[in-house]
Amino acid sequence: MSDSAGDNSKPRVAVLGGCGFIGRNLVEYLISNDLVSGVRVVDKTPPQLAFLNATHSKVFEDPRVEYKSANLINPTSCASALDPGPHEWGLVVNCAGETRVGQSEAVYSEGIYTLSCNVAKQCAALKVPRLVEISSGYMYSKDKPHKESDAVNPWTVEAQMKAKVEQELKKLEPDLNYTILRPAIVYGVGDRRSLTPRLLYGGIYKHLGETMKLLWTAELKLNTVHVRDVCRAAWLVARRARCAGHTYHVVDDANTTQGSLAELVSEIFKINHDYYGAAISTLAKTDITAVAEEANDKHLTAWADICRQYQLLHSPLEPSAPVELLLNKHVCLDGSKLKEIMSMDVPKPTAENLLQVLEDYASMNLFPKELLL
Ligand SMILES: NC(=O)c1ccc[n+]([C@@H]2O[C@H](COP(=O)([O-])OP(=O)(O)OC[C@H]3O[C@@H](n4cnc5c(N)ncnc54)[C@H](O)[C@@H]3O)[C@@H](O)[C@H]2O)c1
Repeated sequence: MSDSAGDNSKPRVAVLGGCGFIGRNLVEYLISNDLVSGVRVVDKTPPQLAFLNATHSKVFEDPRVEYKSANLINPTSCASALDPGPHEWGLVVNCAGETRVGQSEAVYSEGIYTLSCNVAKQCAALKVPRLVEISSGYMYSKDKPHKESDAVNPWTVEAQMKAKVEQELKKLEPDLNYTILRPAIVYGVGDRRSLTPRLLYGGIYKHLGETMKLLWTAELKLNTVHVRDVCRAAWLVARRARCAGHTYHVVDDANTTQGSLAELVSEIFKINHDYYGAAISTLAKTDITAVAEEANDKHLTAWADICRQYQLLHSPLEPSAPVELLLNKHVCLDGSKLKEIMSMDVPKPTAENLLQVLEDYASMNLFPKELLL
């Protein structure tokens, strides 16, 4: 830790899952805006294996940033990772959790529920002034904008675990001082598993010379938020006493739908898109697993072809979708509670800001730049 760790006017922050998509962008936000005296990045994945781009790698080399390896599922490892040493934590942000597609319920239970409970208990024991917990916006399935006070009905296993975590945090009051963020679908540089698979589909259909066909309709709500605004939200709610104990949706102003995203993807790759008729989409309701497997097989085969043709030897990108995300369920959030505190820097996804994600991967030879021409 550098000398600046002793600068008491700025908090020292632990970013758990700091090598992940949201985590690395948060570390960059805190360091490049000079908001903190120091950041401890805790992750089971070392930065060297996290496919950081040049900007994030540089930030991770800043003397105010230290990396600590830990498996937060293990309470002893979690306690050691959060051991503040001679300085106190001003803030802990938990961006760690199991996000790999297609894991068993037991893996999500350990990787989300056990992990977040360990973190929360440790923060309560250390009397950390604020824990910001990144939860999930997949808590409601209807196509109306849901408020934080609506009853939750989490429709992915990951979101079910997050809902259980939220209950546990409440039980730890008043020892635990926390704020919960429920982001919509987060996109931006470094995203691999949220919106990026949909961008990869565009590249795949361009490569195949086919129309991109999508399940359901253009009206399916897939509300979004740029990662920069998730990072700003984490910082801003942490700085306000009145946000303690509250839950906030983090969503942009676009009311994004499958249709609006498909338009952007089609614009980027200069392809056509279309929707399966009601008959196939209805069939998908009853045999969604077979439909998902068939689509994933087609996409993965084409992606393997692309990787071979353009010599992408180590790309971590994967154009596959878990079955539950292919259901006709909406991500539709009312973000007005958070908007009393902040407005969104990035109000909507655009061809430019989505292209930026792919160009960043292309600059690391993880996506073929030829498909962007
Ligand atoms: N990306 C989204 O669209 C989105 C939307 C809503 C909520 N979230 C939630 O936000 C959080 C961060 O998401 P992300 O997109 O940055 O995911 P990510 O997979 O990119 O990052 C998660 C990080 O946590 C680390 N991690 C996982 N298990 C760990 C363990 N046992 N010990 C230590 N580190 C561990 C991983 O190595 C990874 O670096 C997750 O909890 C996710 O569910 C994400």
